[in-house]
Amino acid sequence: MEKKLEYLRKIQSDFIGLDTLYTRADGKKTRRIYLDSTASTLMMKAAHNAIEALYDHYANTHSLLHFSAKIATENYNWAHDRILSFVNADPDKYTCFFTGSGATTGINRLARVFRDYQKDRDVVLVSLMEHHSNDLPHRKHAGKVVHIPLDNHQGQPGCINMEVLEQELEAHKDRINYIAMTGVSNVTGIINPIYDIAELAHSYGALILVDGAQMAAHLPIKMSGHKNPDRNIDALVFSGHKTYVPGSPGAIICRKDILSSMEPEEVGGGMVDQVHVSRYTVTDVFPDREEAGTPNIPGAIGLATAIDVLDRIGMDIIFDEEINLINSALTKIKQLAGVVIYGETDCKICPRAASISFNVRGMDHGLVAAILNDYHNIAVRNECFCAHPYVKEMIIEELEYSREEIESIDIDANFKVKAGMVRASFGIYSTEKDVEALIYALKDIVARKTEYSLLYQLGNDGIYRHKSFTPDTSKVFNTESYISNYLAKL
Ligand SMILES: Cc1ncc(COP(=O)(O)O)c(C=O)c1O
Repeated sequence: MEKKLEYLRKIQSDFIGLDTLYTRADGKKTRRIYLDSTASTLMMKAAHNAIEALYDHYANTHSLLHFSAKIATENYNWAHDRILSFVNADPDKYTCFFTGSGATTGINRLARVFRDYQKDRDVVLVSLMEHHSNDLPHRKHAGKVVHIPLDNHQGQPGCINMEVLEQELEAHKDRINYIAMTGVSNVTGIINPIYDIAELAHSYGALILVDGAQMAAHLPIKMSGHKNPDRNIDALVFSGHKTYVPGSPGAIICRKDILSSMEPEEVGGGMVDQVHVSRYTVTDVFPDREEAGTPNIPGAIGLATAIDVLDRIGMDIIFDEEINLINSALTKIKQLAGVVIYGETDCKICPRAASISFNVRGMDHGLVAAILNDYHNIAVRNECFCAHPYVKEMIIEELEYSREEIESIDIDANFKVKAGMVRASFGIYSTEKDVEALIYALKDIVARKTEYSLLYQLGNDGIYRHKSFTPDTSKVFNTESYISNYLAKL
């Protein structure tokens, strides 16, 4: 335990981007405080360095006999195994493969796979809190999508409402193909009981697909090995760029028997045994058959490196640490008059990870996010975080629009300005000091609301811009200038 905590402390400060400096609107150059980890996390140095070391040996994994090809292949294979054990997926029953740059490609792919696996079932249940990436792919590929509402705690939504979920399963019975559910909301950070949901799904012959985009970096995952096998997860997807390795691929972990019941979604090099002009045979070997084309080898190895580091610390320890930070932030934000937090805030009723979304009463989300950046050098996300139905549901009473108007297509530009929140989100490198900086900034914004408002202008595009502070970010970093400087030094 001591050793693990020691690792944790060392790793927390071993990230690229923790010392980035920017000049604020008041002319002071300060350290950027990164509270946008739910969008993308910063890069773990260990992963960055592992990728850099690999480049000396970089080669295509489809080459076989030269030294570098062997090294690249061995390490690429290790990356798959490492991720399977990270999510506790039995390697005899599950495979891991990499796709695209995030979770979205994986969810689209699995929606098509599940559709074809249980062709006679045409209904998918998703929660109302899903990111669009775990809603739209099912609408487009898999059939009729039914949205399950959330538990209500004195007007604040919590996690998925299990009673309604069961009622919908009962109502549609044999038509339900699968439940697609996020493990953790990217808006409120609220954690869903995915193993209970799996048990319920399986009792109706339905499958479960878990969107693990906000889980992998924050809490332990156990896809298989439950005493009751019905609690196992059929498939899970997560993003490398949200797991401390920007540029790495998304990972899919799925039951092999589902995948092997059909031809892989994508075909091409690397996944066939024989190709003749008139026919071809797909290999039975996992994960090769699911990975057509040359994969993102450095990205996958970098991702597995970060995962390995997280596992050496222990995801239970990382989760405990984060819960403490989130609790502290929630408690402090709750004490601020004029700031409203969305979603159930009692972590004992509804545990959270990673994200807290809020608004300052009487100020638009875009204005608050701009002031946090310009005057406090705090990076946050605002608007609807690709979860429009969920965000609108939580702010509906604050909007001047009826439910019907919101569902209609043409809502004026004012809607975009009003409909949204500010999100502060955390990663393993986030500290109590970061939370204190956020609290200090919010107090300042609440106290100087009018003064700040007068400094900004709202553009036709719905974006707040400072009237006199117009930093030229291309002077901070610009790829073309970087190339010119680099060439000049050669
Ligand atoms: C819960 C959740 N699911 C899916 C996604 C989509 O992930 P990606 O952008 O990696 O495809 C995100 C991204 O924010 C997310 O937070």
